[in-house]
Amino acid sequence: MDFNGFVRTENLSKVYSSGRIQVVALDRVNLSVAKGCFLGVTGTSGSGKSTLMNLLGGLDTPSTGEIHVQGKRISEFTSDELALYRRYQVGMIFQAFNIIPSYTALQNVALPLLFSDVTKLQRLRRAEEMLAKVGLHSRKDHRPGELSGGEQQRVAIARALIHRPNIILADEPTGNLDSQTSREIVEILSDLNRNQDLTVIMISHEEHLLAEFADEMIRLQDGHVVEQSRGD
Ligand SMILES: Nc1ncnc2c1ncn2[C@@H]1O[C@H](COP(=O)(O)OP(=O)(O)OP(=O)(O)O)[C@@H](O)[C@H]1O
Ligand SMILES: [Mg+2]
Repeated sequence: MDFNGFVRTENLSKVYSSGRIQVVALDRVNLSVAKGCFLGVTGTSGSGKSTLMNLLGGLDTPSTGEIHVQGKRISEFTSDELALYRRYQVGMIFQAFNIIPSYTALQNVALPLLFSDVTKLQRLRRAEEMLAKVGLHSRKDHRPGELSGGEQQRVAIARALIHRPNIILADEPTGNLDSQTSREIVEILSDLNRNQDLTVIMISHEEHLLAEFADEMIRLQDGHVVEQSRGD
């Protein structure tokens, strides 16, 4: 195993307890993702993919085991440190676009900067720059209702990039999209991975599509990594 991984887990486990029932969602997962890698994650429903993503993104904390990101042990972070980690180090995107219907594309992308020490002009400039990165600058004044599903997901990607994170975590970002649009979204993530030196970890059921773009692939089953391979 590569102990210098940019994103690395050591015997990472997550057990959910509801009442007397315990679910082992993740069972001693050892993972090492190099800087600038595009890792594809597949596996059947309930295999632990989102659990892994939420732990890597600092949305949840492990039951046991460690998570190291950029040399920092985030599994030991306090909740304040985790909040900063979530805001500045990782960008997350999901199947649901989670964008605000009454806001324009530009306002949606600029939104996370409201809580930072940045002037309004700088906020809008940064948001325009991020929309340009996902090829959506011409739609900046459109509201979500006036955008296609793929375009809405691109707004969500631009918003995830606004704090210039080093890592993008994508949990089934193409789950609501048709196959052509899915391909466009994976292409955008792949471009960001190659041209902006972003480390990308993406979950998808569309294994063939993912393998076309990913540098490496893992498959989860019952909370274990059962298969690891190079992408095509
Ligand atoms: N908050 C929770 N409380 C209890 N059990 C949970 C919780 N979240 C997930 N689980 C359980 O943990 C296991 C892994 O769930 P997870 O969401 O990681 O699967 P997944 O691989 O992302 O599935 P899908 O492809 O359907 O999104 C499942 O058995 C699920 O029921
Ligand atoms: Mg999931």
